[in-house]
Amino acid sequence: MQRHPLLLSVVFILPAMMFTARASISQDASTVWQANPDLVEKLTRQRREFNYVESKVPTYTLPDPLVSRDGSRVRSPKEWNDSRRGEILDLFRDQVYGRRPDTEYSLRFEQTAEETQAFDGSATGREMKAIIEIGDRSFSFPFVVFLLNNAPGPTPAVIHINNRYFVPLATALEKSDPFWPVEMFIDRGYATASFHTSHVDPDKKDGYAEGIRSFFADGDPPDDTAWRSLSAWGWAASRVLDHLETIDSIDASRVAVSGHSRGGKTSLWAACEDERFAIAYSNNSGCGGAALSRRAYGETVERITSSFPHWFCKPFSDFAGREHELPVDQHEVIALIAPRGVYVASADEDLWADPKGEYASIVAAAPVFERLGKQSIQTPVMPPLGQQRMDGQTGYHIRSGGHGLGELDWGLFLDFADTLLK
Ligand code: GCU
Repeated sequence: MQRHPLLLSVVFILPAMMFTARASISQDASTVWQANPDLVEKLTRQRREFNYVESKVPTYTLPDPLVSRDGSRVRSPKEWNDSRRGEILDLFRDQVYGRRPDTEYSLRFEQTAEETQAFDGSATGREMKAIIEIGDRSFSFPFVVFLLNNAPGPTPAVIHINNRYFVPLATALEKSDPFWPVEMFIDRGYATASFHTSHVDPDKKDGYAEGIRSFFADGDPPDDTAWRSLSAWGWAASRVLDHLETIDSIDASRVAVSGHSRGGKTSLWAACEDERFAIAYSNNSGCGGAALSRRAYGETVERITSSFPHWFCKPFSDFAGREHELPVDQHEVIALIAPRGVYVASADEDLWADPKGEYASIVAAAPVFERLGKQSIQTPVMPPLGQQRMDGQTGYHIRSGGHGLGELDWGLFLDFADTLLK
């Protein structure tokens, strides 16, 4: 408040300095988001083995995405696309998420239900089954799609990876659900589709035998660097995209992939593996998602790989307590999605997911967007609580409240998606 008269006089007397004056205001420590000290204290008391204190974050140096393994600097989009991007992708496959199989399969889709007059006739909803076949064996998972009935031309779409539950067509028609608000997408001009992670690969330590990974391996156990559940769920998002590509009313070059928490880790990796996705939206994804592992703030590599051994391939667990030795860090996941769009959202009370580390990843990926000729967020300090920041290919917000995904998050995400897909 006190600063306003000063700002106004600067603006009136010296218009050319306006941006400097504003920049200094938004970088003022009192307006930049910081973890609530009372919450930090409370969480620290509750879980002494995890760090929530900013001053105790280890000093670290991030791997430079623009320096190749042989030490040479990436100087052009061609050098990035032809060699460096592939090097980083391989490191994540071998050390973090695991490698997808190259076994050949066939894929077909079956419609199991349809409503052509959903939401007062504005949309068509369909329940579908993706059927994957290898020889005479088959595996299937259901998903639901909503298309706009009256759009003037092909529309963009959002594929939501639902890590909580499956929403059948009948349920989606009956009541709205803030975790996947179908009617909101339709109102805003987006088609949408969603599936449930556990239908593809059960989200439990001992669920391997019933999932797609075991199906591909014909029951053989996974080796250390084979794909794990996050990668399998991301693979399924790509199969849903295969289906959207066959629908005339959808423009498949404008499809975003989204997810919350473990689903948000998945949406990022899905867009690394599949360059058809135009945007990845990662909500409260934290460790193994948007948050930098080297900060070891909140959830750590040790904790996540021991609690959820089915999410990451074995080598990732070897970096427990040795995050600084990782050959990659999570800003490079964002770099792998460049020059496409990336949206990251955090929540004020979700310190387990390290909001600061989620934001820092975007900034650390900025040199790659720049090398590819695109703009992205570069401001080193976070926006204030409750504010959104968008710059070119990247966007971010931190809202009040705890871990979760709701209509406020979706609305802000769609505001960002509009800038790239509309
Ligand atoms: C746990 C886990 C997180 C994950 C979250 C979720 O809290 O530690 O890594 O993001 O579950 O998926 O809800």
